[in-house]
Amino acid sequence: MESLSTGIEGLDTLMDGGFPKGKSILVTGPPGAGKTILGIHFLHRSCNEGKKCILILTRELTEDILSQSLSINLDLKPFVESKHLSIKNIFEDKMNKIKSASKFGKGLCAVDIDIIEYLSSMSSEVDVMVIDNIGVMAINHDIREFADEFSSISIILLKNGCTSLFVMDEDSYNLTHRLTGYMVFGLIRLTSQENFNYGKTKKYLYIEKMRDKAVPIKYSLFDITPEGIKIIKGMNDLLEV
Ligand SMILES: Nc1ncnc2c1ncn2[C@@H]1O[C@H](COP(=O)(O)OP(=O)(O)O)[C@@H](O)[C@H]1O
Ligand SMILES: [Mg+2]
Repeated sequence: MESLSTGIEGLDTLMDGGFPKGKSILVTGPPGAGKTILGIHFLHRSCNEGKKCILILTRELTEDILSQSLSINLDLKPFVESKHLSIKNIFEDKMNKIKSASKFGKGLCAVDIDIIEYLSSMSSEVDVMVIDNIGVMAINHDIREFADEFSSISIILLKNGCTSLFVMDEDSYNLTHRLTGYMVFGLIRLTSQENFNYGKTKKYLYIEKMRDKAVPIKYSLFDITPEGIKIIKGMNDLLEV
């Protein structure tokens, strides 16, 4: 199966080339784990390769993501200007709509409907999609509704041949019984381990599932640097030291 580079050298090696083309990958983890940065790497690389990309934001401000991308030397702004990247900010759009209709407080929750509507009208020429953060869909829904909506989104993207990265915060992931993990092609979990002796957190990336390949090294230590995510070592290497 053809792969798309994740934009992180060490992760491409771990994943035998990168994210499987046309499939969905879920990345989950606690706040500050590096989920958004992982998405930024993937978008930056894909845009650099001339692919057409979309970033859907459900809670974060667009300007925050753009400045975050600049801070790790993976500036996304030029790609927005060159139209390689479109950013759809569901929450900001909704706020603006409500403001102009002076109906504050009504209808802010139905983020999922907006994602489905937006994706349904999306052109089939989109190569790469990142949705950060799909967890908001877990709020105000029972598990069956959530599963149906997540399936709808996955199917639309799959039919369009879009290589998709879903970001989901760990709390929503657990709250929805880790259901999304079963539904996607691949699952990457980011975890942090506090080290009180050194005052530094150790970060691990765990490739929990990848349907089409045996992943040789599942756990890897990584770091977030001014150049973004750097994979340090696979667990096997660590054991050998
Ligand atoms: N330039 C940098 N150098 C080192 N660490 C950074 C840098 N920029 C961000 N970080 C780290 O990355 C974390 C944020 O990563 P992010 O991908 O936004 O997390 P989340 O999983 O919540 O989306 C911050 O907690 C910070 O520790
Ligand atoms: Mg984030």
